[in-house]
Amino acid sequence: MIIKHLSLTNFRAFKRLELDFPSKLNIFVGKNAQGKTSILEGIHLLSLLTSPIAGNDRQMINLLTLEDDIPVGRLVAVIEKAGKQHSIEVRLIISNGQNGTSRLRKEILIDGGKRKLLESVGYFNSVIFLPQMTRIIEDGPDERRKYLDRTISQAFPGYVRSLSIYNQAISRRNALLKQLLEQGGSRDQLVYWDNLIAENGAVIISIRECAVNSLNEQMYIHHEQLTHNSEKIKLAYQPSLIVSEEDRDPLPLELMHTETTDKEPDQIKEYFLKKLLEIQDEEVRRGVTTIGPHRDDMRFMVNDLDLGIYGSRGQIRTAVMTLKLAEMHWLEKKTGETPVLLLDETLAELDHQRRKDLLSVLEENSQSILTTTDLHLFDKSFIEKSKIWHIQSGKIE
Ligand SMILES: Nc1ncnc2c1ncn2[C@@H]1O[C@H](COP(=O)(O)OP(=O)(O)O)[C@@H](O)[C@H]1O
Ligand SMILES: [Mg+2]
Repeated sequence: MIIKHLSLTNFRAFKRLELDFPSKLNIFVGKNAQGKTSILEGIHLLSLLTSPIAGNDRQMINLLTLEDDIPVGRLVAVIEKAGKQHSIEVRLIISNGQNGTSRLRKEILIDGGKRKLLESVGYFNSVIFLPQMTRIIEDGPDERRKYLDRTISQAFPGYVRSLSIYNQAISRRNALLKQLLEQGGSRDQLVYWDNLIAENGAVIISIRECAVNSLNEQMYIHHEQLTHNSEKIKLAYQPSLIVSEEDRDPLPLELMHTETTDKEPDQIKEYFLKKLLEIQDEEVRRGVTTIGPHRDDMRFMVNDLDLGIYGSRGQIRTAVMTLKLAEMHWLEKKTGETPVLLLDETLAELDHQRRKDLLSVLEENSQSILTTTDLHLFDKSFIEKSKIWHIQSGKIE
């Protein structure tokens, strides 16, 4: 997968930007707040159709444009996929309703034709590393689930559908549990929601399980390389169906993959339904659904220590980097295309050897786009092979 051209209109600080990517290796150089990260964000938006940074899509529309009657931010890319050229366009449109309200609508066009959002996730594949992604390891399970869901959605459009049905069913079921708690009544209605949750939850769990197992294998290899065999990393999936929050810590990793591994979604669904019945009294008492993919987690271990608890900043950063390389290979395996790798300020906190090793991995990749405030962090030979862009106040040289 290659991006050949990018056009940004009213996106972040850019009123208008046209970029050609003639090279495999691309580096954007500039001081802080010049628009480097925004370019990577824009490219990744074309893959996920949601921003890897903004909490709210509206933030991506140029602030001055917001004063227009109908503010529109627009991204268009020419990409090469399976040897053929395609265009992909994302429009962020704010429509003003009555009494001062407004809402943002997203439109996706592939080769000029409008497409459904859910079906277009992952049409263009990219993997992004942002310095703040150390949160995947440092923060709570929410961040890890978000990471996993976004990663998987690029390879399995059907996953997004199951996830969306599942999440809606969980809120409906929680509302029902609350109602049963407060007003009592028949529990018959639970059967419908339990079925929907178990059915879609089973799909989510089995895909997550496979994805994490593959990521774990690839991560191990990349991590050994980047740390010159000094660190052995393990990534384990912790489905809440098996591992409760209370016993999450003491449970040895070896036991992690036992109960759901190699089970078909049908079998997971049966197990899920059985568990839901077992804990029904407790869930009615608490008024909330306590097991299922919305409570899943993953764990990163280095040399048998939990990285989230004991890891140094450098270790965590390296681990996120190897996770991203693993993600790249996983996507490649699933889609048959090497994703475009987007690396924001990645070299800054790595030591010399790790930088060198990482750069040599990139030289083998199909296309990488990097940003830096300091070109000196790159080897001379790497720079010679790269297209360098100097960026200042949203203007490119
Ligand atoms: N919606 C927006 N409209 C206008 N400017 C924005 C918008 N969002 C962010 N910016 C500005 O874009 C600038 C560049 O951001 P960024 O891409 O993060 O720069 P860099 O990565 O080069 O440090 C910042 O000064 C920020 O204030
Ligand atoms: Mg930046």
